[in-house]
Amino acid sequence: MTHRIWLTALTGFGVLGAASVSIAAEPSQVQRGEYLARVGDCVACHTAPHGKPFAGGLEIESPFGTIVSTNITPDPDAGIGDYTRDEFAAALREGKRADGSNLYPAMPYPSYAKLSDADVDALYAYFMQEVEPVADESPESDISFPFNQRWGISLWNWLFADAEAFEPSGQPTEQVERGAYLVQGLGHCGSCHTPRGLMFQEKALDDSDDSYLSGETLGGWWAPNLRGGGDGHDGLQAWSADDIVDYLATGRNHHGAVVGEMTSVVANSTSYLNDEDLRSIAAYLKSLPRQAGSEQEAPSRTSSAQTERLLTAADVGEAPGARLYLDNCNACHFANGRGAPQVFPSLNDNALVNADDPTGLIHVILAGARMPSTPKKPEALAMPDFGWRLSDEEVAQLATFVRSGWGNRGGEVTADQVAEVRKTLPDDLESSAPEFPSQSH
Ligand code: HEC
Ligand code: HEC
Ligand code: HEC
Repeated sequence: MTHRIWLTALTGFGVLGAASVSIAAEPSQVQRGEYLARVGDCVACHTAPHGKPFAGGLEIESPFGTIVSTNITPDPDAGIGDYTRDEFAAALREGKRADGSNLYPAMPYPSYAKLSDADVDALYAYFMQEVEPVADESPESDISFPFNQRWGISLWNWLFADAEAFEPSGQPTEQVERGAYLVQGLGHCGSCHTPRGLMFQEKALDDSDDSYLSGETLGGWWAPNLRGGGDGHDGLQAWSADDIVDYLATGRNHHGAVVGEMTSVVANSTSYLNDEDLRSIAAYLKSLPRQAGSEQEAPSRTSSAQTERLLTAADVGEAPGARLYLDNCNACHFANGRGAPQVFPSLNDNALVNADDPTGLIHVILAGARMPSTPKKPEALAMPDFGWRLSDEEVAQLATFVRSGWGNRGGEVTADQVAEVRKTLPDDLESSAPEFPSQSH
């Protein structure tokens, strides 16, 4: 119960009396550890679908084979109950198991290397004292030679993972410095948002290189450029710090709503962060300048006024995509493509709509999407699936229309691309709705 009060106070949700807030103002080490486990999103990788929290068993696809996450509950046999504090620190920061062997870099230790000693201590206290032990062994990873030779990872570590603690790097304010620590370290945002090199290494682990957080494609979905400094529409330039805070706290803001892999990040991690930490993250992202030499944005293909005229005329012959939009999408996203703030995302200037690879957009149209329920915005608004009523050709026309409408700059989508994405959908869409492991208290 104390936890609930504490977390509630952290998220600033609800009208708590001054008394309960002042109790919550001094969280114990275990409570701090629980909060940090949220920031690090340990539960997302260390919990199997429908499995017990932190008991491992989630299959993570990698270029080398399937890596299965391990049980990190304090069970002495199946889990990490026998880990000393220093062994736990080495697993987090250096990717070393207690027996001295290397962990696969699917565990984000290249980022966690930045963790301070005090944060490691708090995490250790939480995992040892508070997490429920679970005796289930997680299955072995299925990795083929030579990648199953864990000693080989030492070379990779030597080349790519600099196990150095976070160094204040002269950021302009303390708030930005705190944001840098959270984003580069526990938040491991770069593991999805930074481009990867040939050996699957993140091209940069901090902002000393301007490829850091400049965007990467994951299984066809675009994890957008998060660099937010300057004016324009590159990365998060058009988002204010408040927009970023709203998005991370609730999965929605007046630019868009979260879909795909980021849904789980918001549901399990960022929606639990306190306002101060979210503001620090936003301030840090807004401090990152545009990547030098990043392509000047393509000109938009039509103006908003032209698109709205097309929708009013809705001539089937001239623009079949416009007709399909009116019939299927207009009711929620409207003729101006702007939707309704916090309810129906704007399709105009939206990163998913404009991504080079249209897989994410096609996926959303075919399979629909559901926003995460978060402490601040519990209602999980959903977008219906259209795969059952629209042909590949129709989805292609619709996606092409949306990608070129209003101010958008995306390229054309073909029926073959739609067919490819359709093949990857499960037969039973209901069961594909994201499942979030929830902790017992
Ligand atoms: C992006 C996925 C991911 C996240 C996030 C993640 N882990 Fe892991 N972790 C893994 C995988 C996968 C392994 C197993 C790797 C292997 O078998 O080499 C692992 C292994 C470990 C181990 C070694 C256990 C053992 O003996 O095998 C520990 C300890 C651990 N993680 C703790 C944590 C903590 C604490 C957090 C949150 C701060 C966390 N992990 C977040 C993927 C993740
Ligand atoms: C597991 C991979 C993953 C991790 C980890 C991750 N993200 Fe994301 N993120 C994504 C994907 C994929 C999208 C695109 C979502 C969409 O299209 O709706 C996204 C979208 C976003 C957006 C919206 C950008 C836009 O222009 O629409 C923001 C802001 C963001 N992430 C911030 C973060 C921050 C901050 C962190 C670290 C605390 C983080 N992300 C960690 C995968 C990830
Ligand atoms: C009943 C209302 C409704 C209708 C009809 C609808 N949508 Fe949506 N749409 C939503 C909601 C709600 C979301 C947010 C879902 C989420 O974030 O998981 C959404 C999300 C999206 C997104 C992702 C936006 C982002 O920021 O990542 C796209 C793209 C999209 N819709 C396109 C369409 C298209 C194209 C159509 C017509 C085929 C359509 N929608 C019809 C309600 C609707």
